[in-house]
Amino acid sequence: MKNIVILISGGGSNMQAILRASELREWKSRFNAEITCVISNIADAKGLNTAKDFRVATQIVEHTKFKSFDNPRLEFEKELITVIDHHQPVLVVLAGFMRILTPHFVDHYANKLINIHPSLLPAFTGLHTHARAIEMGCQFAGATVHRVTSELDHGPILEQAVVPVLSGDTEEVLAARVLTQEHIIYPRAIENLLAQMG
Ligand code: GAR
Repeated sequence: MKNIVILISGGGSNMQAILRASELREWKSRFNAEITCVISNIADAKGLNTAKDFRVATQIVEHTKFKSFDNPRLEFEKELITVIDHHQPVLVVLAGFMRILTPHFVDHYANKLINIHPSLLPAFTGLHTHARAIEMGCQFAGATVHRVTSELDHGPILEQAVVPVLSGDTEEVLAARVLTQEHIIYPRAIENLLAQMG
């Protein structure tokens, strides 16, 4: 079985789209692949309840628990790696996981770690992508699924979706338009990777 682990921090709508696609498009029988665990760094992330509705195991690794260590980020990642590696995943899917990852973590999951970012990379890495796109007068915005490298929001692009920026768009309206597309391209990118694995 090809195990997939999803990491979230919040609402988990991308995770939900992936879980739904895996059921509807029968990833288990077609690719021998299964989402075995959803892990959140936020204890009350809404997405955890959604994962339970899909009868997927959930785990919480709170980054705040490691505050008192000399190197909190390293200790958090050590724990996260232990929890993830228990599932021996072929893919680790970041779906709104809002922690910056160190090269140690990224290297540990070389060729297995993918992310979705709400912009047309390489434009607008980092936060507030939609507000910045509107402020710059961009006519198009979008989302990117990419492999993760140690440079934030960089890495080979797997899928992109483009949406128009319409006059009068607020950050929220544009974010919602982009999110609808994220829910299409993220499952598709994962499915393509699974197909390539044979
Ligand atoms: C999504 O828009 C995703 O692209 C973004 O967070 C949102 C999570 O929504 N990710 C990042 O900004 C990562 N840099 P969701 O929890 O409903 O999937």
